[in-house]
Amino acid sequence: KVLILDFGSQYTQLIARRVRELNIYSEIHPFNKPPKNVDDYKAVILSGSPMSVRSEDAFHPDLSEIRGKKPMLAVCYGAQYLAHFSGGEVAESNTREYGRANLSFVEEDAFFNGISIGSQVWMSHSDTIKSLPTNGKLLASTHDVQNAAFKIEGETTYAIQFHPEVYHSKDGKQLLENFLVNIANVNPDWTPNAFVQETVEDLQAKLGDDKVVLGLSGGVDSSVAAMLLHKAIGKNLYCIFVNNGLLRKNEFSDVLEQYKGMGLNVKGVDASAHFLDALAGLSDPEKKRKAIGNAFIEVFDQEAHLIEDVKWLAQGTIYPDVIESVSATGGPSATIKSHHNVGGLPDYMKLKIVEPLRALFKDEVRRVGTSMGMDKDLLGRHPFPGPGLAIRILGDITAEKVRILQEVDAVFINGLRDAGLYDKVWQAGAILLPVNSVGVMGDERTYEKCVALRAVESTDGMTADWVNLPYEFLQKTSNDIINKVKGVNRVVYDISSKPPATIEWE
Ligand code: XMP
Repeated sequence: KVLILDFGSQYTQLIARRVRELNIYSEIHPFNKPPKNVDDYKAVILSGSPMSVRSEDAFHPDLSEIRGKKPMLAVCYGAQYLAHFSGGEVAESNTREYGRANLSFVEEDAFFNGISIGSQVWMSHSDTIKSLPTNGKLLASTHDVQNAAFKIEGETTYAIQFHPEVYHSKDGKQLLENFLVNIANVNPDWTPNAFVQETVEDLQAKLGDDKVVLGLSGGVDSSVAAMLLHKAIGKNLYCIFVNNGLLRKNEFSDVLEQYKGMGLNVKGVDASAHFLDALAGLSDPEKKRKAIGNAFIEVFDQEAHLIEDVKWLAQGTIYPDVIESVSATGGPSATIKSHHNVGGLPDYMKLKIVEPLRALFKDEVRRVGTSMGMDKDLLGRHPFPGPGLAIRILGDITAEKVRILQEVDAVFINGLRDAGLYDKVWQAGAILLPVNSVGVMGDERTYEKCVALRAVESTDGMTADWVNLPYEFLQKTSNDIINKVKGVNRVVYDISSKPPATIEWE
């Protein structure tokens, strides 16, 4: 495996993903909290950083355990770190060094195998390396950046000023492969199949004959986690799928059947009435979220208690939820997001936690699901918020409003599927607005609900843009909704990006 030491760059996760796309397992650790067993790692990559090496409180870890002992690739800040603290010089740059640049090679090196002169790379830095560190040997330059790539003689240490991990560095992946596979001799054997096999063995060793309970949500993560555990411990995995009454139309029964078809030991619990009661009269979004969270815990806890002698709670936590981040000051920071769907079970349940997807990014979860033969549609589902339609009905929740929104949402989502647009959209849904507007139907004036449609493209939900859906599609969808869904006489389309808007309306 490969160790990525993070200096706080916005691109660090991308480095990890690119490395993994080469079928090489990689882990991100903060530069100031490296793992204890560095020997387990075959190579080390230093990330970029928003920090300047010239700053008084520049990140300056002691890398003596790594440097010269293991193959090391230093990216951006990493390269400047090598130069600045080892006999070279870094200064403020007087030309802008952002965006595209083209490589020209100074020295032939296996590092550039398969990469041709002029290859486009992506720069993003304001300091520049004026002179190389001791034993540094220049490998490549660009028009504006003389010391764009260098190595340290007598070590397997390489440094580059540009970012091989970003998409715009056309040969970035080839470069990472050259370094990791050809130079550092790391074996590219971390495939989805290998992951499944290894994880199943680990789970078997860890869980033995213990019983495990898992909350299924219908989403990709909990479904793939369940399949892995099912492979490992079979009937000792007890899945609970709660209907909170705020799912999409027919979702509960459809997905429950699908889970059963996959051989899962799953119990469907219809608690719609309980959730509606808990939500009665609430219109503040955070209060609604809290009420739903609490109701879920009550229902789940009650169900889990029916399973005799259960020892473990399984969760679908994935890697972005657990990566420790480096704070701007490099302090001991480390904020870890809690998993918002199944968080905070009561202490008295005293269950140990097992998280088989902890090491995976979302796209890897999908690939692992595919390698286990899971259904393509299940794996390709849009994200759906834990509180479900409750945060898409602005204001208070009633059974009638849920019914209207489920109908509207079904027309929209099925329409997207029929038009072949579903997979081109990252997330889509409908929002029931707390306004009635006037309309005419036949000879009569109506005073009915208005719904907003939302479809966004995104990669992680942190930023998003609205999707330019074809007018013909919007026209047909609007007609279908108003004709088929009683109580709605107006449809609007949300054309706001995130930021400054958010994906959901609450
Ligand atoms: P926003 O609205 O913050 O949404 O742009 C970003 C992503 O998070 C989802 N979301 C939630 N998911 N519980 C969840 O499990 C929540 O309370 C919640 N709020 C928003 C949203 O659907 C989008 O994918």
